[in-house]
Amino acid sequence: MLLVFGSINLDIAFSADRLPLAGETVMGSGYLVSPGGKGGNQAHAARLFGAPVTLAAAVGRDAFAEPALTRLATAGTDLTQLQWLDAPTGCAGIVVDARGENQIVVAPGANLALCSHHVSDATLAMAHTVLLQMETDPAQNAALLTRARAAGCQTMLNNAPARRLAPEVLALLDVLVVNETELAATVAGAGIQAQGARAQVEALAARFAMTVVLTLGAKGALACADGRIYEVASFPVDAVDTTGAGDTFTGVLAAARMEGQDWPQALRTAAAAAALACTKAGAQVAQPTRAEVNALLASAP
Ligand code: RIB
Repeated sequence: MLLVFGSINLDIAFSADRLPLAGETVMGSGYLVSPGGKGGNQAHAARLFGAPVTLAAAVGRDAFAEPALTRLATAGTDLTQLQWLDAPTGCAGIVVDARGENQIVVAPGANLALCSHHVSDATLAMAHTVLLQMETDPAQNAALLTRARAAGCQTMLNNAPARRLAPEVLALLDVLVVNETELAATVAGAGIQAQGARAQVEALAARFAMTVVLTLGAKGALACADGRIYEVASFPVDAVDTTGAGDTFTGVLAAARMEGQDWPQALRTAAAAAALACTKAGAQVAQPTRAEVNALLASAP
């Protein structure tokens, strides 16, 4: 089972020709209210791909909780570790421009009250892989990573949104997934001096004996695993909205690795899923099924 420990948000996404400048109001063409949060998105992507997924997360006792959870429940995500707390459900304000690029502000609410102890030992014992992001309390992430390591789980962290991570936290990881901004923050936190993204990925992987995966948007992705570099191209698509594309990549990557795909295969599978997620508006509502991912993979051998 894949255990995702992370955030749930209700996303309110506005479409506009361009993103507003500081102090500026721009007129939008519409808005979409849909489920999001990096934890929820990664759990949902992995579940749609066919993985058994348990999501440990927190929502408030308010009107945003049900619409934030509905897709996860419909997809068959195990929500037995979900916490209902006296804090607002997380909410993200998103603006998407005509090129599909976005700006996001997150009010984390209940997500910051999610604790490692909300995950039972019995649940952890059933987890093959534990996947986390950085929209929850970093101290609680570290606590859960420590327990996950002790329980023999594979540990995977997506350092999004970007944070400086202590070396002791990096030492708890089997897999780190970052984009270019997140790589820069991670390298700074670890005190790594290497110049250039590829050298930084290699240095991080070597220093902490882990696999580092770098997503590069339309330029694809690269990974350093077991001392080797693997590169994958992106799948060309007409991007409508890139919101949650990185989450789709990460969730499907975790699922693909769990079912035994090697790194080149898993990276390609994740890149195909992420490309498809860019072709529709929204985060979870835009994620592809396994059949759709397989069809794209088959069309571009
Ligand atoms: O990565 C995209 C996600 O970031 C959105 O769904 C939003 O909720 C924020 O968490």
